[in-house]
Amino acid sequence: MQYYFAPLEGITGYLYRNIHHKHFPGIDRYYSPFVVTRDGGIMKRKELRDILPENNREVTLIPQILTNHAENFLCAAETMYELGYQEVNLNLGCPSGTVTGKGRGSGFLKWENRSKLQHFLEEIYQYAKPKISIKTRIGWEDPEEFTDLLQLYNTFPICELTIHPRTRTEMYREGVHREIFRQAYKTSVNPVCYNGDIKTEDDVRELGQEFPQLSSVMIGRGLLSNPGLVSRIVGKDTGKQELEAFYYELFDAYQQELSGDVHLLHKMKELWIFMAPQFTEHEKYLKQIKKSRKLSEYETVVRKLFYEQELA
Ligand SMILES: Cc1cc2nc3c(=O)[nH]c(=O)nc-3n(C[C@H](O)[C@H](O)[C@H](O)COP(=O)(O)O)c2cc1C
Repeated sequence: MQYYFAPLEGITGYLYRNIHHKHFPGIDRYYSPFVVTRDGGIMKRKELRDILPENNREVTLIPQILTNHAENFLCAAETMYELGYQEVNLNLGCPSGTVTGKGRGSGFLKWENRSKLQHFLEEIYQYAKPKISIKTRIGWEDPEEFTDLLQLYNTFPICELTIHPRTRTEMYREGVHREIFRQAYKTSVNPVCYNGDIKTEDDVRELGQEFPQLSSVMIGRGLLSNPGLVSRIVGKDTGKQELEAFYYELFDAYQQELSGDVHLLHKMKELWIFMAPQFTEHEKYLKQIKKSRKLSEYETVVRKLFYEQELA
Protein backbone atom coordinates (compact mmCIF):
# COMPACT_ATOMS: atom_id res chain seq x y z
CA MET A 1 0.00 0.00 0.00
CA GLN A 2 1.20 3.51 -0.82
CA TYR A 3 0.42 6.28 1.67
CA TYR A 4 -0.40 9.80 0.54
CA PHE A 5 -0.70 12.91 2.69
CA ALA A 6 -3.86 14.72 1.54
CA PRO A 7 -3.71 18.38 0.56
CA LEU A 8 -4.95 20.58 3.39
CA GLU A 9 -5.12 24.20 2.39
CA GLY A 10 -3.65 26.57 4.98
CA ILE A 11 -1.97 23.70 6.84
CA THR A 12 0.17 21.35 4.76
CA GLY A 13 2.38 23.94 3.09
CA TYR A 14 6.01 23.20 2.33
CA LEU A 15 7.29 23.89 5.85
CA TYR A 16 4.79 21.45 7.31
CA ARG A 17 5.51 18.80 4.65
CA ASN A 18 9.30 18.94 5.00
CA ILE A 19 9.29 18.88 8.78
CA HIS A 20 6.68 16.14 8.84
CA HIS A 21 8.75 14.03 6.48
CA LYS A 22 11.90 14.55 8.56
CA HIS A 23 10.30 13.36 11.80
CA PHE A 24 7.75 10.88 10.45
CA PRO A 25 9.04 9.12 7.34
CA GLY A 26 6.77 6.76 5.44
CA ILE A 27 4.60 9.03 3.28
CA ASP A 28 5.02 8.12 -0.39
CA ARG A 29 3.51 11.31 -1.76
CA TYR A 30 2.45 14.67 -0.42
CA TYR A 31 -0.19 16.63 -2.37
CA SER A 32 0.08 20.40 -2.37
CA PRO A 33 -2.93 22.42 -1.28
CA PHE A 34 -4.70 23.66 -4.39
CA VAL A 35 -3.11 26.26 -6.59
CA VAL A 36 -5.69 28.55 -8.17
CA THR A 37 -5.01 29.43 -11.78
CA ARG A 38 -5.59 32.87 -13.14
CA ASP A 39 -5.80 34.08 -16.71
CA GLY A 40 -2.68 32.94 -18.49
CA GLY A 41 -2.22 30.31 -15.79
CA ILE A 42 -0.25 32.68 -13.57
CA MET A 43 -0.27 31.63 -9.93
CA LYS A 44 0.14 33.76 -6.84
CA ARG A 45 3.75 34.06 -5.71
CA LYS A 46 2.93 32.38 -2.43
CA GLU A 47 1.39 29.41 -4.25
CA LEU A 48 4.33 29.13 -6.61
CA ARG A 49 6.78 29.24 -3.71
CA ASP A 50 4.92 26.35 -2.08
CA ILE A 51 5.58 24.07 -5.02
CA LEU A 52 9.08 25.20 -6.03
CA PRO A 53 11.34 22.13 -6.20
CA GLU A 54 13.95 23.79 -3.98
CA ASN A 55 11.32 24.00 -1.23
CA ASN A 56 10.33 20.36 -1.65
CA ARG A 57 13.63 18.57 -2.10
CA GLU A 58 13.09 15.86 0.47
CA VAL A 59 9.50 14.92 -0.35
CA THR A 60 7.66 13.57 -3.37
CA LEU A 61 5.18 16.29 -4.21
CA ILE A 62 2.19 16.26 -6.54
CA PRO A 63 1.00 19.81 -7.15
CA GLN A 64 -2.75 20.30 -7.26
CA ILE A 65 -4.64 22.66 -9.58
CA LEU A 66 -8.08 24.14 -8.99
CA THR A 67 -9.78 25.54 -12.08
CA ASN A 68 -12.58 24.91 -14.57
CA HIS A 69 -10.78 26.68 -17.38
CA ALA A 70 -8.88 24.33 -19.68
CA GLU A 71 -6.43 26.87 -21.02
CA ASN A 72 -5.51 28.06 -17.53
CA PHE A 73 -5.11 24.47 -16.39
CA LEU A 74 -2.80 23.76 -19.31
CA CYS A 75 -0.66 26.84 -18.61
CA ALA A 76 -0.32 25.96 -14.92
CA ALA A 77 0.39 22.31 -15.77
CA GLU A 78 3.08 23.39 -18.21
CA THR A 79 4.73 25.60 -15.58
CA MET A 80 4.69 22.66 -13.18
CA TYR A 81 6.09 20.35 -15.84
CA GLU A 82 8.91 22.80 -16.47
CA LEU A 83 9.61 22.81 -12.75
CA GLY A 84 10.10 19.06 -13.06
CA TYR A 85 6.71 17.63 -12.07
CA GLN A 86 5.67 14.59 -14.10
CA GLU A 87 2.18 14.54 -12.59
CA VAL A 88 -0.34 17.18 -11.55
CA ASN A 89 -3.60 16.68 -9.71
CA LEU A 90 -6.97 18.19 -10.57
CA ASN A 91 -9.19 19.24 -7.66
CA LEU A 92 -12.80 18.17 -8.21
CA GLY A 93 -13.66 17.99 -4.55
CA CYS A 94 -13.35 21.34 -2.81
CA PRO A 95 -16.74 22.06 -1.16
CA SER A 96 -16.15 25.69 -0.16
CA GLY A 97 -18.93 28.00 -1.34
CA THR A 98 -16.54 30.56 -2.80
CA VAL A 99 -15.03 27.81 -4.97
CA THR A 100 -18.18 25.91 -5.95
CA GLY A 101 -20.00 29.18 -6.67
CA LYS A 102 -17.58 29.68 -9.56
CA GLY A 103 -18.21 26.14 -10.82
CA ARG A 104 -14.83 24.87 -9.57
CA GLY A 105 -13.89 22.02 -7.24
CA SER A 106 -16.99 19.97 -6.43
CA GLY A 107 -19.04 22.73 -8.11
CA PHE A 108 -17.77 21.32 -11.40
CA LEU A 109 -19.58 18.05 -10.56
CA LYS A 110 -23.06 19.62 -10.72
CA TRP A 111 -25.20 18.00 -13.36
CA GLU A 112 -25.70 21.31 -15.19
CA ASN A 113 -21.90 21.51 -15.67
CA ARG A 114 -21.50 17.97 -17.01
CA SER A 115 -20.92 18.79 -20.67
CA LYS A 116 -18.54 21.59 -19.67
CA LEU A 117 -16.64 19.12 -17.48
CA GLN A 118 -16.47 16.63 -20.33
CA HIS A 119 -15.15 19.24 -22.71
CA PHE A 120 -12.63 20.47 -20.10
CA LEU A 121 -11.34 16.93 -19.54
CA GLU A 122 -11.08 16.31 -23.29
CA GLU A 123 -8.93 19.42 -23.65
CA ILE A 124 -6.62 18.82 -20.73
CA TYR A 125 -6.10 15.12 -21.43
CA GLN A 126 -5.34 15.88 -25.04
CA TYR A 127 -2.82 18.66 -24.51
CA ALA A 128 -1.28 18.53 -21.02
CA LYS A 129 2.38 17.58 -20.80
CA PRO A 130 2.38 16.01 -17.32
CA LYS A 131 0.17 13.07 -16.37
CA ILE A 132 -3.06 14.10 -14.68
CA SER A 133 -4.55 12.49 -11.60
CA ILE A 134 -7.93 13.57 -10.22
CA LYS A 135 -9.18 13.97 -6.66
CA THR A 136 -12.96 13.90 -6.63
CA ARG A 137 -16.02 13.82 -4.45
CA ILE A 138 -18.81 11.49 -5.59
CA GLY A 139 -21.23 14.17 -6.71
CA TRP A 140 -23.02 17.33 -5.78
CA GLU A 141 -25.93 16.13 -3.63
CA ASP A 142 -26.78 12.51 -4.37
CA PRO A 143 -24.26 9.67 -3.99
CA GLU A 144 -25.88 7.93 -6.97
CA GLU A 145 -24.55 10.70 -9.21
CA PHE A 146 -21.25 8.89 -9.11
CA THR A 147 -22.37 6.15 -11.51
CA ASP A 148 -22.57 8.67 -14.32
CA LEU A 149 -19.45 10.52 -13.22
CA LEU A 150 -17.43 7.33 -13.17
CA GLN A 151 -18.58 6.49 -16.68
CA LEU A 152 -17.21 9.86 -17.75
CA TYR A 153 -13.94 9.38 -15.84
CA ASN A 154 -13.56 5.97 -17.46
CA THR A 155 -13.22 7.62 -20.85
CA PHE A 156 -9.99 9.42 -19.86
CA PRO A 157 -6.49 8.15 -19.03
CA ILE A 158 -6.57 9.36 -15.41
CA CYS A 159 -3.29 8.21 -13.93
CA GLU A 160 -4.96 7.88 -10.53
CA LEU A 161 -8.49 8.66 -9.38
CA THR A 162 -8.64 9.56 -5.70
CA ILE A 163 -12.17 9.25 -4.41
CA HIS A 164 -13.48 10.97 -1.29
CA PRO A 165 -16.86 9.25 -1.05
CA ARG A 166 -18.98 12.16 0.07
CA THR A 167 -21.14 14.53 -1.93
CA ARG A 168 -20.53 18.24 -1.76
CA THR A 169 -23.67 18.85 0.28
CA GLU A 170 -22.40 16.40 2.90
CA MET A 171 -19.29 18.57 3.36
CA TYR A 172 -17.44 16.61 6.10
CA ARG A 173 -20.54 15.21 7.87
CA GLU A 174 -22.46 11.96 8.02
CA GLY A 175 -19.80 9.35 7.39
CA VAL A 176 -18.60 8.18 4.00
CA HIS A 177 -20.27 6.07 1.27
CA ARG A 178 -18.02 3.04 1.21
CA GLU A 179 -20.48 1.26 -1.09
CA ILE A 180 -19.94 3.93 -3.73
CA PHE A 181 -16.19 3.56 -3.43
CA ARG A 182 -16.63 -0.21 -3.79
CA GLN A 183 -18.45 0.35 -7.08
CA ALA A 184 -15.53 2.44 -8.36
CA TYR A 185 -12.99 -0.07 -7.04
CA LYS A 186 -14.68 -2.72 -9.18
CA THR A 187 -15.48 -0.75 -12.31
CA SER A 188 -12.95 2.04 -12.69
CA VAL A 189 -10.68 1.42 -15.65
CA ASN A 190 -8.15 3.75 -14.00
CA PRO A 191 -6.30 3.06 -10.73
CA VAL A 192 -8.23 4.29 -7.70
CA CYS A 193 -7.05 5.67 -4.38
CA TYR A 194 -9.27 5.83 -1.29
CA ASN A 195 -9.64 9.01 0.79
CA GLY A 196 -11.88 9.80 3.74
CA ASP A 197 -12.06 9.32 7.52
CA ILE A 198 -8.99 7.09 7.88
CA LYS A 199 -7.82 7.90 11.39
CA THR A 200 -6.20 4.84 12.95
CA GLU A 201 -3.99 1.89 12.13
CA ASP A 202 -7.09 -0.29 12.40
CA ASP A 203 -8.87 1.85 9.80
CA VAL A 204 -5.97 1.29 7.40
CA ARG A 205 -5.93 -2.44 8.09
CA GLU A 206 -9.69 -2.77 7.57
CA LEU A 207 -9.47 -0.80 4.34
CA GLY A 208 -6.80 -3.18 3.06
CA GLN A 209 -8.91 -6.18 4.05
CA GLU A 210 -12.00 -4.83 2.34
CA PHE A 211 -10.10 -3.79 -0.81
CA PRO A 212 -7.16 -6.18 -1.15
CA GLN A 213 -6.08 -4.84 -4.56
CA LEU A 214 -6.10 -1.22 -3.40
CA SER A 215 -2.69 0.26 -4.03
CA SER A 216 -3.00 3.61 -2.28
CA VAL A 217 -4.76 5.50 0.47
CA MET A 218 -4.79 9.25 1.02
CA ILE A 219 -5.04 10.49 4.60
CA GLY A 220 -5.71 14.05 5.72
CA ARG A 221 -7.11 14.84 9.14
CA GLY A 222 -5.97 11.49 10.55
CA LEU A 223 -2.37 12.54 9.91
CA LEU A 224 -2.89 16.03 11.28
CA SER A 225 -4.17 14.47 14.51
CA ASN A 226 -1.57 11.77 14.63
CA PRO A 227 1.41 12.80 12.48
CA GLY A 228 3.11 9.46 13.25
CA LEU A 229 0.21 7.33 11.99
CA VAL A 230 1.88 6.16 8.79
CA SER A 231 5.36 5.92 10.33
CA ARG A 232 3.98 3.43 12.82
CA ILE A 233 2.27 1.45 10.08
CA VAL A 234 5.52 1.15 8.15
CA GLY A 235 7.28 -0.03 11.27
CA LYS A 236 8.81 3.01 12.96
CA ASP A 237 8.01 3.26 16.63
CA THR A 238 6.97 6.85 17.24
CA GLY A 239 5.67 8.41 20.42
CA LYS A 240 5.45 11.61 22.42
CA GLN A 241 9.14 12.43 22.08
CA GLU A 242 8.98 12.38 18.28
CA LEU A 243 5.78 14.43 18.32
CA GLU A 244 7.40 16.99 20.59
CA ALA A 245 10.47 17.28 18.35
CA PHE A 246 8.23 17.65 15.28
CA TYR A 247 6.05 20.24 16.99
CA TYR A 248 8.95 22.44 18.17
CA GLU A 249 10.69 22.40 14.81
CA LEU A 250 7.43 23.37 13.12
CA PHE A 251 6.77 26.10 15.67
CA ASP A 252 10.26 27.57 15.12
CA ALA A 253 9.84 27.44 11.34
CA TYR A 254 6.48 29.20 11.46
CA GLN A 255 7.86 31.76 13.88
CA GLN A 256 10.54 32.66 11.36
CA GLU A 257 8.17 32.61 8.41
CA LEU A 258 5.13 34.45 9.75
CA SER A 259 5.08 38.10 10.59
CA GLY A 260 3.74 38.76 14.06
CA ASP A 261 2.45 36.71 16.96
CA VAL A 262 -1.18 36.98 15.87
CA HIS A 263 -0.57 34.99 12.70
CA LEU A 264 1.62 32.50 14.49
CA LEU A 265 -0.96 31.95 17.23
CA HIS A 266 -3.70 31.49 14.67
CA LYS A 267 -1.66 28.91 12.78
CA MET A 268 -0.73 26.97 15.89
CA LYS A 269 -4.27 27.00 17.32
CA GLU A 270 -5.57 25.50 14.09
CA LEU A 271 -3.04 22.67 14.42
CA TRP A 272 -3.84 21.97 18.05
CA ILE A 273 -7.53 21.51 17.26
CA PHE A 274 -6.40 18.40 15.39
CA MET A 275 -3.46 17.32 17.57
CA ALA A 276 -4.71 17.88 21.11
CA PRO A 277 -7.21 14.97 21.19
CA GLN A 278 -4.25 12.59 20.91
CA PHE A 279 -3.36 13.46 24.52
CA THR A 280 -4.87 12.22 27.75
CA GLU A 281 -7.01 14.81 29.54
CA HIS A 282 -6.45 17.26 26.71
CA GLU A 283 -9.68 19.26 27.05
CA LYS A 284 -8.51 21.86 29.57
CA TYR A 285 -5.23 22.40 27.71
CA LEU A 286 -6.97 22.85 24.38
CA LYS A 287 -9.34 25.34 25.94
CA GLN A 288 -6.39 27.36 27.26
CA ILE A 289 -4.56 27.12 23.95
CA LYS A 290 -7.62 28.48 22.15
CA LYS A 291 -7.99 31.26 24.72
CA SER A 292 -4.32 32.35 24.62
CA ARG A 293 -3.86 35.90 23.44
CA LYS A 294 -0.15 36.20 24.12
CA LEU A 295 2.50 33.93 22.71
CA SER A 296 4.03 33.46 26.17
CA GLU A 297 0.69 32.16 27.56
CA TYR A 298 0.35 29.81 24.63
CA GLU A 299 3.88 28.47 24.99
CA THR A 300 3.39 27.78 28.68
CA VAL A 301 0.24 25.71 28.07
CA VAL A 302 1.88 23.68 25.32
CA ARG A 303 4.93 23.00 27.49
CA LYS A 304 2.64 21.81 30.28
CA LEU A 305 0.65 19.62 27.92
CA PHE A 306 3.77 17.82 26.73
CA TYR A 307 5.12 17.54 30.27
CA GLU A 308 1.96 16.54 32.13
CA GLN A 309 0.07 14.36 29.67
CA GLU A 310 0.75 11.27 27.60
CA LEU A 311 -0.45 10.20 24.19
CA ALA A 312 -3.81 8.51 24.72
C1 LIG B 1 -8.66 22.39 6.36
C2 LIG B 1 -8.81 21.55 5.13
C3 LIG B 1 -8.21 21.97 3.94
C4 LIG B 1 -8.34 21.20 2.77
N1 LIG B 1 -7.71 21.60 1.61
C5 LIG B 1 -7.80 20.82 0.50
C6 LIG B 1 -7.11 21.18 -0.72
O1 LIG B 1 -6.39 22.18 -0.81
N2 LIG B 1 -7.27 20.35 -1.79
C7 LIG B 1 -8.04 19.21 -1.73
O2 LIG B 1 -8.14 18.48 -2.72
N3 LIG B 1 -8.66 18.85 -0.60
C8 LIG B 1 -8.56 19.62 0.50
N4 LIG B 1 -9.17 19.21 1.66
C9 LIG B 1 -9.82 17.89 1.70
C10 LIG B 1 -8.82 16.83 2.18
O3 LIG B 1 -7.72 16.72 1.30
C11 LIG B 1 -9.49 15.44 2.30
O4 LIG B 1 -10.03 15.09 1.05
C12 LIG B 1 -10.60 15.42 3.34
O5 LIG B 1 -10.18 16.03 4.54
C13 LIG B 1 -11.07 13.99 3.62
O6 LIG B 1 -9.99 13.19 4.01
P1 LIG B 1 -9.65 12.89 5.58
O7 LIG B 1 -10.91 12.36 6.21
O8 LIG B 1 -8.54 11.88 5.55
O9 LIG B 1 -9.25 14.19 6.18
C14 LIG B 1 -9.09 19.99 2.81
C15 LIG B 1 -9.69 19.59 4.01
C16 LIG B 1 -9.57 20.34 5.16
C17 LIG B 1 -10.22 19.86 6.43
